[in-house]
Amino acid sequence: MLRTFRIAPSILSADFARLGEEVTRVVAAGADIIHFDVMDNHYVPNLTVGPMVCKAIRPLTQAPIDVHLMVKPVDRIVPDFAAAGADIISFHPEASEHVDRTLGLIRDQGCKAGLVLNPATPLAYLDHVLDKLDLVLIMSVNPGFGGQQFIAHALEKLREARSRIEASGREIWLEVDGGVKVDNIGEIAAAGADTFVAGSAIFNTSDYAATIAAMRSELSRSQGA
Ligand code: DX5
Ligand code: ZN
Repeated sequence: MLRTFRIAPSILSADFARLGEEVTRVVAAGADIIHFDVMDNHYVPNLTVGPMVCKAIRPLTQAPIDVHLMVKPVDRIVPDFAAAGADIISFHPEASEHVDRTLGLIRDQGCKAGLVLNPATPLAYLDHVLDKLDLVLIMSVNPGFGGQQFIAHALEKLREARSRIEASGREIWLEVDGGVKVDNIGEIAAAGADTFVAGSAIFNTSDYAATIAAMRSELSRSQGA
């Protein structure tokens, strides 16, 4: 069966001095989703942007805004992102005292809910909550910074996550984040991912459309199309 692939540029590598323009440009270049990295200098050793910035970019695009929370605690900030126009909110299970409750909270706010697994975080976190998930995000770098190298072990994890999702019979997106580039995206897709976060690989090039098109052509080749 042909899988639907989605490209999700991470604005972490965009020019923050011209953020609105960058969002508009990358969507015009073919992005499906805007990946919005939220870091708190506590759960991860970096600090980025919050709900006010999400609200500011919301009117600029119809593309879903995929909020990746790298914050601890999680629950207090969830309603603020929902009000700011987030479509998807995902979080790291280690950052929440009550994972099931946080997933329910995100959905109660009208958003899709995702769980993010760090390189050393086991897939077992999915075991009892698959019915409450719209998205599983496999980290292929340790969270905190753009421009890091893809950790190869993520491929095996993606294969396992894909088989759990298939077995559940539910429509859960399988997203991958960290070190995704034109030259490895095909292999990552073959391992089971359908949604690809890419920050530096897109924003550090001058022609976003050409980069996204190159990624799509690798994705088609991975499906033998
Ligand atoms: C890392 C972030 C990523 C980051 C990816 O903690 O979650 O979304 O922007 O950047 P690249 O694609 O450059 O590895
Ligand atoms: Zn991210």
